[in-house]
Amino acid sequence: MTVYYYKDRFIESGQQLLPIEERAYNFGDGIYEVVRFERGVPVGLSEHLERLETSAAAVRLRLPYSLEEIRAIVAEAAGRVKSEAVDVYFQISRGEAPRVHAFPDAEPVLALFARPGKVHTDESRRVGVSVITVPDERWANCYIKSLNLLPNILAKQAAVEAGAYEAVFVRDGFVTEASASNVFGLHEGVFYTAPAERGILNGITRRFIIAAIRDLGYALKEERMSAAFFEQEVEAAFISSTTMDIMPLCAINSRKLQPLEDTSLIWPVLGRMRELSRG
Ligand SMILES: Cc1ncc(COP(=O)(O)O)c(C=O)c1O
Repeated sequence: MTVYYYKDRFIESGQQLLPIEERAYNFGDGIYEVVRFERGVPVGLSEHLERLETSAAAVRLRLPYSLEEIRAIVAEAAGRVKSEAVDVYFQISRGEAPRVHAFPDAEPVLALFARPGKVHTDESRRVGVSVITVPDERWANCYIKSLNLLPNILAKQAAVEAGAYEAVFVRDGFVTEASASNVFGLHEGVFYTAPAERGILNGITRRFIIAAIRDLGYALKEERMSAAFFEQEVEAAFISSTTMDIMPLCAINSRKLQPLEDTSLIWPVLGRMRELSRG
């Protein structure tokens, strides 16, 4: 069951009509967020709304509603989906106007859908997922959660065709992030993840994980991993996102990683990040 909202109202499934000159559609001229609700409670919604505001300012997009109004619409949408886990996708586009590149005189548009979310279990985390590495050919401003995801889509498709779950981007010989997640490595008791610069999306999950690692007193280096280090030397690694929390890797390209042992530092980090994000 999926719930839809466009502009100023909820609409029936099957009644979504997209104006052809809608800038989200013509240019990818907009920004978005995905937030999860668990048993009706949002995870990190304030952080997602804050990032929406940052993305909007970065692309000079006026939000059609206040953050509090958007929060209420998102919560209402989640509440209409009867499921333990609900993912709400919401986007703001620059609106509908005759197609010219420069900003039109148009009203920005909120569109969203809410649907049941896939719950990843610790059992599935013990199995893990595989990744391939691919060149990061995206633009310089990946900190903006923009609708333009063509390079991410091509990377994910390359992963799927290689029999892998996710594609990890490598730029100038260093891991940045993955097509729809952030990347962490673990080597000799030290966690590694790329710093939150313009070239990566500063994941909300990534932030909770970093807070958890610090809280637990574990060592963390917010520095870029070289592709060689990531591909050959890390003993464990995981990807993170709103819909997965933490998902360990079982293979990087052709190299297999050991399944997570019960003693792995990743388990306490998962537990603590859950407490922090659901607190
Ligand atoms: C490119 C990219 N990096 C990282 C993430 C993880 O971000 P978050 O933890 O906020 O879901 C996403 C999520 O969709 C993403 O698309």
